[in-house]
Amino acid sequence: MKYMWEGRFKEKTEEDVINFTSSLAIDKKLALYDIKGSIGHTKMLVKCRIISKKDGDKVIAGLKKIKTEILEGKFKFTQSDEDIHTAIERRLIEITGKTGERLHTARSRNDQIVLDERLYLKDVLKQILSLISNLQKKMIEKAEANFHFIMPAYTHLQQSQPVLLSHYLLSYVEMLERDKSRIQEAYKRMDILPAGVCACCGTSLPVDREYLAKVLGFSGISRNSLDTVASRDFLIESAFDCVLLMLNLSRFSEDIILWNTYEFGFVELPEKFCTGSSIMPQKKNPDVLELIRGKSASATGMIAGLMALMKGLPLSYNRDMQEDKRLAFNIFEDTLYSLDILVKITEDIRFRKDVMKEKISQFTLATDIAEYLVKKGVPFRESHRICGAIVRYCLEKNKSFSELSLKEWKDFCPKISEDIKYILSFEESVRQKKSYGGTSPEIVRKELNRWKKILK
Ligand code: ARG
Repeated sequence: MKYMWEGRFKEKTEEDVINFTSSLAIDKKLALYDIKGSIGHTKMLVKCRIISKKDGDKVIAGLKKIKTEILEGKFKFTQSDEDIHTAIERRLIEITGKTGERLHTARSRNDQIVLDERLYLKDVLKQILSLISNLQKKMIEKAEANFHFIMPAYTHLQQSQPVLLSHYLLSYVEMLERDKSRIQEAYKRMDILPAGVCACCGTSLPVDREYLAKVLGFSGISRNSLDTVASRDFLIESAFDCVLLMLNLSRFSEDIILWNTYEFGFVELPEKFCTGSSIMPQKKNPDVLELIRGKSASATGMIAGLMALMKGLPLSYNRDMQEDKRLAFNIFEDTLYSLDILVKITEDIRFRKDVMKEKISQFTLATDIAEYLVKKGVPFRESHRICGAIVRYCLEKNKSFSELSLKEWKDFCPKISEDIKYILSFEESVRQKKSYGGTSPEIVRKELNRWKKILK
């Protein structure tokens, strides 16, 4: 077995050390990005006359061959491949002989790994952004199709006030838009070429980093070599934004899990997105949604791990950083999978208007009655007290608001008149919520149309 550092070492490296330090099992995922980076790097070396055009062509042809081997599953890793960079370089030298030994000129694995990570992020963040938009679109479709469905809104998981289901769905569209804008911001900061700073101090060779940035499609170039190999804030920021997104997905999942219970019954989940029980034949469980909830928990732990990794590290590169990929890949992959499946579930979910109507309590109109009294000149604190007493009276007499006679209403407040009956409807309740951002159909319709334009 041959090592890159065999010139310096007299002793053979302990086998346990090789296994312990290897990151191949995890950074294998970066293979195609590593090749892309190396092809760009080779073009730059040729352009700067650091290697000849002939050698460059041979190296690029070799790298393309390796790419094919990887795509076809024919690439063979060996025990001495410490990481994906060494694996590909080793194979390149096997294919091209001495010429391949020129590839690692004017670069180090310290800048190479950051390059691979950034190329990976460029792809993965774009995929995540497009999936968020898809989820938003599905929610908008559902909001449109079930526009007038009225359900109880909840605070403290107690029925609070009537709300349009469409308004509820748009609340998630709103949250997802913030997730998107955070990721777009992170993307901008991340989209910077790190390659060419080498181990940590730059190189004496005449490299052209501007050219390499163009070839690899980066919008900017890192300005300080130490910072470039030492920092992982670009990765933490992107991963953190995904964790925040996962938290939102977990809340949506939780709402649907709850609504899918016998007790709520507000939604029906298609069977193809549920699983059964090994013992209870009647079960149809929302495992997928539970797993999104669960994955958001592990993602929260992993982002904490990722941050802890960097705390107090001396500049510049340290091997600790190798652990970043294990954590970050899991976060990004869980985000992708969760989004993807949630898009499909949202598309097929059925909302039960009848059940929502049946389950909403008339007491959710209590605030409307209190506001009715305010409109009649009663101070709000007093109207709150009066309404509270009315609710209590109804509970004791086992009556609903609409079963009260005008005399009973007037006994609580003489200002109440015949027109109280007009506000005792859920439709009227939502219709009146015309304050900016409220749930009146008029406002929700405008919002819906606005979103449709944005997400077209
Ligand atoms: N595998 C390393 C990482 O993921 C990159 C290689 C740098 N290794 C080194 N010994 N300088 O961070």
